[in-house]
Amino acid sequence: MTDIADGVRDHYLANGLTERLKTALSVLGPEDQRLTPEQLASLDQFHTLGLAATAGLAKLAGISADMSVLDVGSGIGGPARFLAATYGCRVTGVDLSKPFVDAARYLTERTGLSGQVTFETGSALELPFDAGRFDVVLLQHVAMNIADRAGLYREIRRVLKPGGRFATFDVVSKEGKPHYPLPWARTPDISFLMTATATREAIEQAGFHMLAFQDDSEAAKAWFSALRSSGAPPSPNLGVVMGPDFAQLSFNLGRNLLEDRLGILTAVFEAASTNS
Ligand SMILES: C[S@@+](CC[C@H](N)C(=O)[O-])C[C@H]1O[C@@H](n2cnc3c(N)ncnc32)[C@H](O)[C@@H]1O
Repeated sequence: MTDIADGVRDHYLANGLTERLKTALSVLGPEDQRLTPEQLASLDQFHTLGLAATAGLAKLAGISADMSVLDVGSGIGGPARFLAATYGCRVTGVDLSKPFVDAARYLTERTGLSGQVTFETGSALELPFDAGRFDVVLLQHVAMNIADRAGLYREIRRVLKPGGRFATFDVVSKEGKPHYPLPWARTPDISFLMTATATREAIEQAGFHMLAFQDDSEAAKAWFSALRSSGAPPSPNLGVVMGPDFAQLSFNLGRNLLEDRLGILTAVFEAASTNS
């Protein structure tokens, strides 16, 4: 593994996460009480716009019950559980962070979805799956941590069936340098932002045709402004996962969006039937 992967793993190390989650979730009921993906959304949807972003992306990608979906960089598994619970599809998550994967498995048991949703530890640049296995690949707020974008999109293309769909929701660069620390990188050495146009070109070069491409920066600005004016954050929240500085990381992302340093891209692509 590269130094970049080590830096990213350190950023998302989250030692003792499952124990912290157990404590934080006790406010929702006893350990044996089944939880819903909606109850967990304030802490397990680790991206701008929260659950609404996952719901919108799934709709745009046309997910249905008979599909096998891969969530690359699945975090603690909120998007994967939401898709399985909403559409009845099978979902596999893969993530670099072992504590995140352990926490994802724990939360999946708590939601009674372990029969439909599984998680593995692994790299997006070396996905531990056979070629052509999935109908849909989801990538939400992960590409910013990956320098080798050509390798990332090639690997996603490899595990998709011909005609399969790749749905991405990411932070993109706009004008000027972002303020750090940020939710995916406290320092710039593990942050690899690209513009929306460069992202599209890199994906198309990996053997995809574009189906949808939308700028969600204004919706994200409104979301962050509403968060700021609502005062106290919802409880439990992503501070349980990322630590007490999460409020500052999140504030900086909002500030960068409001200053047009960063933007939010939602896009869906179709895997070409050949790599040409
Ligand atoms: C901001 S979180 C997003 C998690 C999830 N997609 C979500 O939206 O809730 C970014 C995730 O990407 C994972 N990640 C970053 N680089 C990765 C890589 N090279 N391979 C696999 N996972 C990676 C991190 O471990 C982290 O869980």
